Amino acid sequence: GLSTILTIYIGGSEAIQGRITEGNIAQFLLYIGRLTWPIASLGWVTSLIQRAAASQARINEFLETRTSISNTAAVAEQIRGDIEFRNVSFTYAHSGIKALDRVSFHIRPGQSLAIIGRTGSGKSSIANLVCRLYDADEGEILIDGKSIKDINLYSLRSQIGYVPQEVFLFSDTIANNIAFSSLSESKEVIAQAAKDAAIYSSIIEFPEKFETMVGERGITLSGGQKQRISIARAILRQPRILIFDDCLSAVDTQTEEEILHNLARIMKGRTSIIISHRVSSVKQASHILVMDNGRILEEGTHEQLLGRKGAYHQLHLKQLLEEEKA
Ligand SMILES: Nc1ncnc2c1ncn2[C@@H]1O[C@H](COP(=O)(O)OP(=O)(O)OP(=O)(O)O)[C@@H](O)[C@H]1O
Ligand SMILES: [Mg+2]
Repeated sequence: GLSTILTIYIGGSEAIQGRITEGNIAQFLLYIGRLTWPIASLGWVTSLIQRAAASQARINEFLETRTSISNTAAVAEQIRGDIEFRNVSFTYAHSGIKALDRVSFHIRPGQSLAIIGRTGSGKSSIANLVCRLYDADEGEILIDGKSIKDINLYSLRSQIGYVPQEVFLFSDTIANNIAFSSLSESKEVIAQAAKDAAIYSSIIEFPEKFETMVGERGITLSGGQKQRISIARAILRQPRILIFDDCLSAVDTQTEEEILHNLARIMKGRTSIIISHRVSSVKQASHILVMDNGRILEEGTHEQLLGRKGAYHQLHLKQLLEEEKA
């Protein structure tokens, strides 16, 4: 456009004065023409590169996110399952809610601890800390007498069978959902875990049995069935520590009894933490904590707690009445 006119005008007057020839002008215009596209595309490529750089920077930001949980111990080791909380306080950083306030307890290998208490009292937070999903703000958590921070994180987690409060199932077969992290498990091992979780008989009634798809592309399981698949997944690997977070809430008391009976066998020799709202789920435990507002309100065995005639006793009476009504 403008550059061509300028070239012809200036070139023209120069040519008239005899300093250059018409051929030079034509040549010059030709070269300018050839330069236009490369220069325009240079601008385009530069903007592309800049956009890519900006995206890459964001991706890096994400990739470089480090959790505050650091794995300092390199060697994996077999744990025995001794768990001790010493004056542990914990506040969720982003909400500022103090979930645990100076909680102390000690579970010896093979023992069972039950945690009961109203909603929001801090029960799941204890489970989260044992799995080291978070680090405590104050106090100490010891596993086998060693600070939890000095234990290899992956080794620790691989030795904990955790049934979270919210069940998560994949859109996959039932067998793969149970085998989950250990896909090499044999059919017999998976079937045994299903039996122990009292879900086996339901599974073999499905048309494709263990190969039945669950989730969006398959059948929809009931809440109680999902919970039991989640239990089967946790016990499959026979971990040293078992944590059941409210995992029997969606099953009736009869199924609960059946599962607890099976679990008693599996929990033998393993450390277990059972979280529940129901006295019937926790009464067998070696030690029971009654949580309230992040603190331990009462503790002891079922009999000791009933003898105290406190909150636990009242809860027990209330639930007995409800059961009779049902
Ligand atoms: N991920 C989280 N982020 C922020 N606050 C949380 C988180 N999880 C729990 N809290 C808060 O911490 C407190 C204790 O919660 P926690 O889940 O431990 O209770 P809970 O005893 O397990 O209750 P429920 O019986 O309903 O499961 C609650 O006030 C809750 O709102
Ligand atoms: Mg909870």
